[in-house]
Amino acid sequence: MPKTFYITTAIDYTNSAPHIGHAYEKVLADVIARYHRLKGEPVYFLTGVDQHGQKVQQSAEKREIPPQQFVAGITEQFIALWDKLEVRYDGWAATTNPLHKQCVQGMLERLWNQKQLYRDKQSGYYSVRQEQFLTDKERGPDGNFGPEWGTVEYREEENYYFTLSSHKEWLLKFLSSHPAFVTPSFRQTELVNAVEKLGGDLCISRPKSRLNWGIELPFDPEYVNYVWFDALSNYLSFVGYDPNLTDFSSQPSTFLDKWPALHVIGKDIMVPAHGIYWPIMLHALGFPDDRMPGLLVHGWWNIGGAKMSKSVGNSVDPNTLVDKYGAEAVRYYLMSDIVTGKDADFSEERLVARYNSDLANNIGNLVSRTLNMLNRFCHARLNARASDFNSELQSQARAQRERFQQSADEFSTPGMLAAADCLSSRCNEAIDREKPWELAKDRGRQAKVACLLYELAEAVRLIALFISPVLPRAAHGVFDQLQWKMELGGKEERFSAGDMEWGQLPEGHVVGKPAPLFPRFT
Ligand code: ME8
Ligand code: MG
Repeated sequence: MPKTFYITTAIDYTNSAPHIGHAYEKVLADVIARYHRLKGEPVYFLTGVDQHGQKVQQSAEKREIPPQQFVAGITEQFIALWDKLEVRYDGWAATTNPLHKQCVQGMLERLWNQKQLYRDKQSGYYSVRQEQFLTDKERGPDGNFGPEWGTVEYREEENYYFTLSSHKEWLLKFLSSHPAFVTPSFRQTELVNAVEKLGGDLCISRPKSRLNWGIELPFDPEYVNYVWFDALSNYLSFVGYDPNLTDFSSQPSTFLDKWPALHVIGKDIMVPAHGIYWPIMLHALGFPDDRMPGLLVHGWWNIGGAKMSKSVGNSVDPNTLVDKYGAEAVRYYLMSDIVTGKDADFSEERLVARYNSDLANNIGNLVSRTLNMLNRFCHARLNARASDFNSELQSQARAQRERFQQSADEFSTPGMLAAADCLSSRCNEAIDREKPWELAKDRGRQAKVACLLYELAEAVRLIALFISPVLPRAAHGVFDQLQWKMELGGKEERFSAGDMEWGQLPEGHVVGKPAPLFPRFT
């Protein structure tokens, strides 16, 4: 059996409603997953929600409801949004799932027995309001802790620690021998710089008096695990990793078939969580170097150059956008108007403008012109043989197919879409130049018209394949109008990278009538 392409996203924190940044990450992973299915690979796409922690506990207390009820409400909003955006995932990682708890506890138990965890005393200044220990970084310019921390008192507390720093040299060596651990590569440079500065171990617990909404430590019921062992382990616990088996190669085959994963995450959780804690946790659990996962680190959507934030009130609700413009317009905007890895500015005007120019005026227009002319001049029948020509459009199609594949392999969704956009522009230009409606008046030039229309139909078919990971509905719409692969109507298997070869539409094939695919937004 071929290895399953295993892709994950960050599990979204369920302290507040989903925003456009969450939507971007989910659609990005969905598009990459669809591309791998297009190539015929088995795919497993895991996403989910991060349900424990201090903020959730506080929000639930404020509303005077149990935390489980609070997270259930937010979780519902995430699930509904992924449905609405047509994000197709295979596994759902919710960290309150008992299976997950068991796995996390098994991992902690093993690391405790292996002396990778230890108990130690921490003392220092503690902010009661923020419920955290403060360091010198939190001091103001006058050397004092500002009023935002409320009452600050000196405290002593015992906690459990993970032996992070003892693996620092291993991680530096691993990163230098695996330069493609992080995509894009400038982020790996950032990571190496951060690892070089690494000192100290990782506190992995909170006494229950401070935090009880979490997974209990298996070796001390007075404590719960704090954040990262709980959150990061979802990538293992939901695909059948058995924490009791120390020897990596004896893990169940369902797990071994998927691992390693590609983790799609935002730039804020690379250092330290996914870039430092996670590989070191895996290393401590006995994962070999050649089974370390990869990180695809994307940038952030900002608003007018500023960070999106609930307190500023500039957070964009993806639900409102989908209700107004539809899932595919939102997917198209998010996938086309940002360079993967970089930040971008969110703008509703840009969403409308890109949809109108690229989809309505370019691709939509091409499909409708092509089908119209086939109906008018050729009785809807393709009556030219692919071997009869070797045209400019055919070589354009080949070039754009290469661009599509290379872009997809580099996770460049704008590049994938640019392939469709460019091929469509070349086709529209060819129509404007050749004026088939004039050629058609001349009996002697019927063959030329048939040839051109065959090529346009082929190009349209390829464009549908190029857009299919981002715009599955529209791609089905194009195939339906071409009356192509009707037996697979509505099914993702209808789209296959193997069909990107030129000339698959057979001679004599009858196409359907055009219907608007991308009605303009006014
Ligand atoms: O970080 N633009 O959850 P989260 C793009 N639970 N992406 C953004 C973004 C923005 N404006 N804001 C956030 C957490 N993100 C943890 C993860 S994983 C084991 C635990 C991205 O809900 C962010 O970078 O705060 C992250 O990848 C994801 O949304 C979830 O963020
Ligand atoms: Mg976060």
